[in-house]
Amino acid sequence: MNILLLGSGGREHALAWKIAGSKKINNLFIAPGNGGTSNCGSNLPVNPEDFDAVKKISLEHNITLLVVGPEAPLVMGIHDFFLNDPQVKHINVIGPTQAGARLEGSKDFAKQFMQRHSIPTAHYKIFTKESINEAFRFFNELAPPYVLKADGLAAGKGVLIINDLQEAKANLSEMFEGKFGEAGLKVVLEQYLKGIEISVFIITDGIHYKILPEAKDYKRIGEGDTGPNTGGMGAISPVPFADKNFMEKVEQRIIVPTVKGLLEDGIPYKGFIFFGLMNVDGYPYVIEYNVRMGDPESESVIPRIKSDIVDFFEGVANQTLNEKELEIDKRTVATVILASKGYPGDYQKRKVIENLCMVDDSLIFHAGTKLEGDTIISNGGRVLAVSSFGSNINEAINKSNKNAGIINFEGKYFRKDIGFDLNI
Ligand code: AMP
Ligand code: GLY
Repeated sequence: MNILLLGSGGREHALAWKIAGSKKINNLFIAPGNGGTSNCGSNLPVNPEDFDAVKKISLEHNITLLVVGPEAPLVMGIHDFFLNDPQVKHINVIGPTQAGARLEGSKDFAKQFMQRHSIPTAHYKIFTKESINEAFRFFNELAPPYVLKADGLAAGKGVLIINDLQEAKANLSEMFEGKFGEAGLKVVLEQYLKGIEISVFIITDGIHYKILPEAKDYKRIGEGDTGPNTGGMGAISPVPFADKNFMEKVEQRIIVPTVKGLLEDGIPYKGFIFFGLMNVDGYPYVIEYNVRMGDPESESVIPRIKSDIVDFFEGVANQTLNEKELEIDKRTVATVILASKGYPGDYQKRKVIENLCMVDDSLIFHAGTKLEGDTIISNGGRVLAVSSFGSNINEAINKSNKNAGIINFEGKYFRKDIGFDLNI
């Protein structure tokens, strides 16, 4: 089978690495890929949001399976584009159609979906500029901190959590004035949920599903979960508090009604679902849906999957996922992200990365890197992910931290406390 994988981050390198290890793969192409994915297949310089260009390379390379890493092409309808084009409609796509991608692309849609299917989530209401006075009144029904969410995709920046009521109101007005562009013209105001977050993933063919290993992501730039939000500075899988009892609740209260709900609403869904959950006193609530794998969670989760992932993709395409056996490595994986100084603000690129070959007891997934001649240089805010196995969190994180120390580039920054809150 010839596979085309879209995307260029650490998640895509982890997926490419896993796909390249499959018995069923002939050729793997990654568009556009990064300095690491070129070790797993051939990088092609194509933008995943340029559907015509994706179609062209798919035909050129006899692709039979398209795996979509990031959300943007899904929300823009790449799956629908393939389904509706006679020349490429034979190509199976891993990732939902536009209707399913609204779970991530519109908070309004996601909230209404959860309400319709009785899926636990924070109490909320949706407002536009026209209903701003109602919104101001709704604040009185909520207790601080106030949670304001732009309806559309806002590059991970569309959620504001604000303690002060006046400040919250001012921010709401700014959102309606275009602070987050189109994405913020509709705003979800919701109850603040106090608890600990966890990322749960499934792969589904629209009827059946398999629960993949869960993970905990560390979003803040600073140690002790301080400072601005990032795309994620590290991850741990498995998560100790996600015991059998908790995961049973996740499955019965969230996963089952979500998959059933999509079916009932007439939305065929083939791909990953990422449930961003809050554990509130032992009960899971959905904070957000994503229609893709997480990053950096993938760099912890994917190495723990022992089964052939391409076999699973075939199961998704043929709606025979129930026939597949998912085998999981019981060990812990700890992932540490090496970022560029200044991230998530302005940062420099084009720094030479050294000592990669001195690491032999961790997996290194590239995120923002580029190959120039024989040299790997930095090309993003999150540069590399170092993932290590251990028999417990301590062992795994110590290995990742040691190797994060060995790899070098100018302005390297990493958090040394990933997993700090998980009783180690
Ligand atoms: P989202 O983009 O929806 O994942 O939101 C970004 C982050 O905001 C989440 O990862 C949570 O840490 C936080 N967050 C979102 N909604 C809530 C909520 N209702 N209560 C508490 N924290 C929240
Ligand atoms: N790590 C969070 C995300 O992928 O959205």
